[in-house]
Amino acid sequence: MPYNIHKMFKGLFKASTGGSLWVLGFVILTLVVLAVKHRPRTRKELLRSTQATHLLQFPPSRRHVLDKVGELPPDLLQKRALPSTHAVNLGGDDLYTPTGFSTRDIRALGRFPDYAKLSGIRYPTPYVDFDVTKARFRPFRPFRWNYHQTMSLMKFDPDWWVELEQNYHTTMAARQKLLAKYPEHIMFSYPGSELACRELMEMLLQFITRRYPQYFSLDPFNTVLTNHLLHTTTNLVTTPPLQVIFSNIPEDYAIMLRNESDGLYYLRAAGVCSSVGWDIGQHRNKPLSDIHTHVPDFRERMAFSMDRFFAKMPVDQPIQRCSWGLEDHAPLFSSPAVVEGWQRSAFADRPGELKVEDLQLRCDWQTLRRLPLSGAIVFNFKAVFNPFTDLRDEPYVPALLLKILREGKENLITYKCVEHVRQVAMKALEMWAKEQVDAGIVPENWEVGTLDESPFYPGWEERWRERQGFGSATKQ
Ligand SMILES: *[C@@H]1O[C@H](CO)[C@@H](O)[C@H](O)[C@H]1NC(C)=O
Repeated sequence: MPYNIHKMFKGLFKASTGGSLWVLGFVILTLVVLAVKHRPRTRKELLRSTQATHLLQFPPSRRHVLDKVGELPPDLLQKRALPSTHAVNLGGDDLYTPTGFSTRDIRALGRFPDYAKLSGIRYPTPYVDFDVTKARFRPFRPFRWNYHQTMSLMKFDPDWWVELEQNYHTTMAARQKLLAKYPEHIMFSYPGSELACRELMEMLLQFITRRYPQYFSLDPFNTVLTNHLLHTTTNLVTTPPLQVIFSNIPEDYAIMLRNESDGLYYLRAAGVCSSVGWDIGQHRNKPLSDIHTHVPDFRERMAFSMDRFFAKMPVDQPIQRCSWGLEDHAPLFSSPAVVEGWQRSAFADRPGELKVEDLQLRCDWQTLRRLPLSGAIVFNFKAVFNPFTDLRDEPYVPALLLKILREGKENLITYKCVEHVRQVAMKALEMWAKEQVDAGIVPENWEVGTLDESPFYPGWEERWRERQGFGSATKQ
């Protein structure tokens, strides 16, 4: 409906130029009445109008990087859409991806094209003094007050798409074990996702071989990846792309493809291990709006704007965000689907024994980007655990988190942590916040609010470098 009104309005406006102002006024009035009258009433109607809206919405094309002129009209992209629901014959001609590349363009580009040029996102700076044996994740502290569940998006940093740290070997081994044990809960790829999976793999390998050249390299023909950390080689011609990613990169990826029948995005391929309380397998083939239903207020407040955001998201504007939770242990993967009587808390039946030393801050660092050729949208995330006691001497952090746990909206807080975790955390934070005031680190009358350094805290960089013993890589 909004789309049609918009189009109609444009047409009518054209017809009325040169006419009197009165005519224009009448037209607008008619449109307002029409819009109100035809406002979708039932959920079903709303859904239908939503779908019509998405059907002709496409992201900005990047064909111009191939010296092709002009954007293709949406109805052509819609009519000649490369199918996302069955295997694609790239040998055929004149089918188009949502970003406006034709099957012919894709064949001409071949394997490992210049994705920096195609995406408009530069390659990362080489992290030359990086030492994986000492590296630590950056200390994410994505706490915000006034707290409300908005998307809280940040601009994507091209140097940090994949972030390695000192547990690389153990994490990789744990992930392989999980995959062997629960394959259908962790990895899948459906017909129609071939191009997107290959594209993601090629982009990631271009990233890691440039960012960490001491640890990853490609042969001159881009057919073999050598991993100098695990001492493995991977044949890129014969190994499925998601498998290549899973065997080398300890992060999670979920690929959403635009469904040509309704213009919405569906989860069609994934390799995801760090899921607690759910698993990616349970979401296979679901549309975006069904996947986030466990996030409080999501459906009401964000589903529609999220669908629209996805339809339009430009390739050259990826984003990152960070969400957090408090846990009483640090599980990598634990899904109710594979654990009988699953509980979020390890202290569920003995909450009185929980101590502050047991607590963990869990941050889920996520990036979201559209792949330039296939137009697929890729969710990427990693879970980063920190002993909760680390927060003690981080300026302003205890007071800020305390405020959120005390005064945050109840349904959001229960999503962030279980009640006995919350109680133990608040008690410690109260003490630590007071310590920081007594020590003169935080002014007594500091009005608690989101920090300028968010998602970090004042002075984080120096401390972080000191702890890992190297690192000038953030400002090169
Ligand atoms: C694509 O959309 C159509 C129409 O809404 C739906 O029937 C079909 O199941 C969707 N495909 C996938 C892969 O979900």
